[in-house]
Amino acid sequence: MLDGINGAANRVNGGDLLDEGVNVDDGVDLGTRCCCEVTGLWRLLLVNEVRNSAINTFTGSKYSPSPSLKHHSSMEAPSWLLLSVAWLASLTILSTIFISRRCKQLKFPPGPKPWPIIGNLNLIGSLPHQSLHKLSQRYGPLMHLKFGSYPLVVASSVEMAAEFLKSHDQIFATRPPHAAGKYTAYNYSDILWAPYGPHWRQGRKIYQNELFSSKRLESFEYIRVEEMRAFVSRLYGLSGKPVVLIGHLTRLTLSNISRMVLGNKYFDVSGDDRNVSKSIVSLQELQSFKRLSGYVKRMKTLKKKLDRFHDHVFDEHKRKKEELGKDFVAQDMVDLLLQLADDPDLDVKLTYDAVRGLTVDLVTGGTDTTAVTVEWVISELMKQPQLITKATQELDRVIGRERWVEERDIPQLPYLDAIMKETMRKHSVAPLLAPHMAMEDCKVAGYDIRKGTRVFINTWSIGRDPSLWEQPEEFRPERFLGRNIDVKGRSFELLPFGAGRRMCPGYNLGLKMIQLSIANLLQAFNWKLPGNMKVEDLSMEEAPGITAPRKFPLVAILEPRLPLHLYEL
Ligand code: HEM
Repeated sequence: MLDGINGAANRVNGGDLLDEGVNVDDGVDLGTRCCCEVTGLWRLLLVNEVRNSAINTFTGSKYSPSPSLKHHSSMEAPSWLLLSVAWLASLTILSTIFISRRCKQLKFPPGPKPWPIIGNLNLIGSLPHQSLHKLSQRYGPLMHLKFGSYPLVVASSVEMAAEFLKSHDQIFATRPPHAAGKYTAYNYSDILWAPYGPHWRQGRKIYQNELFSSKRLESFEYIRVEEMRAFVSRLYGLSGKPVVLIGHLTRLTLSNISRMVLGNKYFDVSGDDRNVSKSIVSLQELQSFKRLSGYVKRMKTLKKKLDRFHDHVFDEHKRKKEELGKDFVAQDMVDLLLQLADDPDLDVKLTYDAVRGLTVDLVTGGTDTTAVTVEWVISELMKQPQLITKATQELDRVIGRERWVEERDIPQLPYLDAIMKETMRKHSVAPLLAPHMAMEDCKVAGYDIRKGTRVFINTWSIGRDPSLWEQPEEFRPERFLGRNIDVKGRSFELLPFGAGRRMCPGYNLGLKMIQLSIANLLQAFNWKLPGNMKVEDLSMEEAPGITAPRKFPLVAILEPRLPLHLYEL
């Protein structure tokens, strides 16, 4: 169990240090992609680790000195103060000796020797999952490093992932404190950044039972169908021209999610906000929340805008409820959350900040992840056009050419499922999952892991483990045919959504959106590279950013392959 006091202290600590306001992102390339770019939530997390660690190491303390202490030190100190300082200093030296002796008795997993202050950060490049993968080939599937002064372990095999997410799931079910949790998630009032405890547990229950129940997701199917038809029709209008796919995919997922969560398309990625005046946060800004997570000052400014945005959305929902009186039925996820906020019988009171935090998770959680995955799918297929032929043959056989593929058809399309899984193996959008943290000292695979140690599960490494996958660098959907490997946290060789207590609660919705997008894109269009570009020229490099998006957005030329009347709205 999370010891509440420590959790709170850590949160305060993280926040205070971050409040000191050093822009750690200065000089860090956040990428050049437009609205779809998920950039740096996780990378910034690493970078923030550096800043926190460096500050902690310099101060020798987890807390910044209080202003009053700084003030006193510059004045003539009374003798009792000098005595206290001397006493404290001796105590610190003694405890440091005691801790370092104790650490020597502990058996940590193997890993590179850390430098003072920076720890092993000198070994981490702009693609941290790849740097950690290389290190794991030298030090093994369970590796101990230091990011600044913070201890970190990295699990890079199926067995080690299972140790953290299954055998010791509860001990590692909390998150480390982070500025994103403090500012963008209303002081850890969401799910993603919430420490393990009653608030997080209740939030997960709400997600599972209310927001992502099969019944609820089914009730939103009409939205997904409408948005898919509009998406295909937009692309049809661009037939024969080079199309940057990711922008359209982001617009699709965003429109879907904002209608399901907020009840309306409050934003339009074309830049034309429909229902909200320009003074309220735009969706691009909302999305850039993740990108800006290292800039505390800018985060604070954006948070104010986000507050206004939430107020606007919540007021509209409340007004609608009042107007309808007894006839009111919850239509979207915000309606449901506001209803729960008024429920006096909940185990833990759902505050308005919690409604805001949960809403942010919902809007930002599924947008980029889904769009980036689908962009990788189409890129890999364009590299091997014979795979597109196989997939469209399956679509033609099962659905024909006179109607659009629907969600109910998906279980009849095993090749499509294999394409999706193979993409998730090779291009997991959360290659290190989200960070976990040890809530108590424990032993994993015979090694000591201390309380407070951060944990990364390197799914990028697992997806390239030659003992699991023959020729892992090759994209071969066939490897999944006839094999019982799922993506829902039961098969540890494929963990796009994580596993265990912290597994992604939105996986069902994510899967529906990904599968339907791939099926429609392949059914609707023939795909060509622009100009004289050859498949060998299509780069498959990843951009810096922990969600590992494409470095160069995919540009393709699309031609319709079904009767033209189907494309009309
Ligand atoms: C392709 C789609 C998606 C992928 C690949 C994905 C992946 C992940 C991963 C890897 C985690 C962290 C698991 C861990 O810490 O072990 C996560 C957590 C989370 N995801 Fe997703 N996700 C997707 C879609 C969604 C959607 C559609 C939503 C909501 C609308 C969502 C909301 C969340 C939330 C709230 C968490 C935090 C859970 C917690 O900390 O307890 N995700 N997701």
